[in-house]
Amino acid sequence: MTTGPDILVCRDAARMTERAARLVTAAAGAAIHARGGFTIALSGGSTPRPLYEALAGAPWRDRIAWERVLVYWGDERCVPPDHEESNHRLARETLLDHVPVPGGSIHRIKGEIVPADAARDYETTLRRTVGSPRGGDDADQRDPPRLDLALQGLGPDGHTASLFPAGDAITEDDRLVVAVDASTTDVLPPEVDRISLTPPMLNAARRIVFLVAGEEKAAAVAAVLEGPRDPSRWPAQAIRAYDGETIWLLDTPAASRLEAVGSAEGAS
Ligand code: 6PG
Repeated sequence: MTTGPDILVCRDAARMTERAARLVTAAAGAAIHARGGFTIALSGGSTPRPLYEALAGAPWRDRIAWERVLVYWGDERCVPPDHEESNHRLARETLLDHVPVPGGSIHRIKGEIVPADAARDYETTLRRTVGSPRGGDDADQRDPPRLDLALQGLGPDGHTASLFPAGDAITEDDRLVVAVDASTTDVLPPEVDRISLTPPMLNAARRIVFLVAGEEKAAAVAAVLEGPRDPSRWPAQAIRAYDGETIWLLDTPAASRLEAVGSAEGAS
C-alpha cells in the first residue's frame, strides 16, 4: 500500500537530524525483526553528513544491530572510492568506519571503472544481495529487489540521486542502475559522470526518506510536492514508494514555500 508522501517539518537542521536518526533506527529495528536484516541505500552530498555522524555516536549507534545491516548507495560519482567527491568516502568517514557493519555487507558502487560496467555490476549486486520482493521461489527475477530504506537528497534543480532534469534515467523502466553522462546535464562538472539507481529500483523500497534542508531548496521542494507533475523538469517527482512509505523530512527553511505542511516532533 502506498502512503504519503508524508511531509514532516522540523524547526531546524539539528531537530531534522534527530528525527531522521529516529526514522532510520526504527526502520532498522522493524526490518531486522521481520526479515533478519536491514538494507539501506545512502545518499551523497552534504545534507546527510550530520545524520551519518549522529548514527555513528550516542545515543543512536547502540540502537542499531549493525551486524545485520547491509549498506548500498543510491548513486555515486565516477571517481575512485577515496576521492573527495566519492559518496562512498563520505559515508565511510562519517559513519561506516565507526560502526560494526561487516565489510562484506558494504556494497559500494565501483565509481572507478567504466560507468556502463559499474552500472551493470551494481545491478547484479543488488539482485544478488537485496531481498527479493516476494521471497521464495515465486519471486519474479525481473521484479526489483526491495530495499528497506532509500535515503534521498534534493538538489535546487529538483534532482535526486543522479536523476537530473531532462535525463533519460528518469523514465528508465527496466534497468535498476544506469550510468549518467555528465555532458547531458548542465548541473554536473563536465568531468564527473555518475551512476544512479533508477525509479524502478528506488520506488520498490519499503520506505523512501527525503532529507532536505536550507532555503536554497525551498523552491524545488514546493515545485516537487505542490507543483504540476513534470518529472522531466523535477525528477524527484518520479520517486515515490509504490508499496511503502515516502517521507519528506524538511527543516523550516526548506519547507518555507510550501502551502500545506505537516509537522514533526520538535517543529515550532
Ligand atoms: C549526490 C547526491 C545528490 C544529492 C543532492 C543534494 O551524489 O550528490 O546523491 O542527489 O542528494 O545533490 O545535495 P546536498 O545535500 O549537498 O545539497
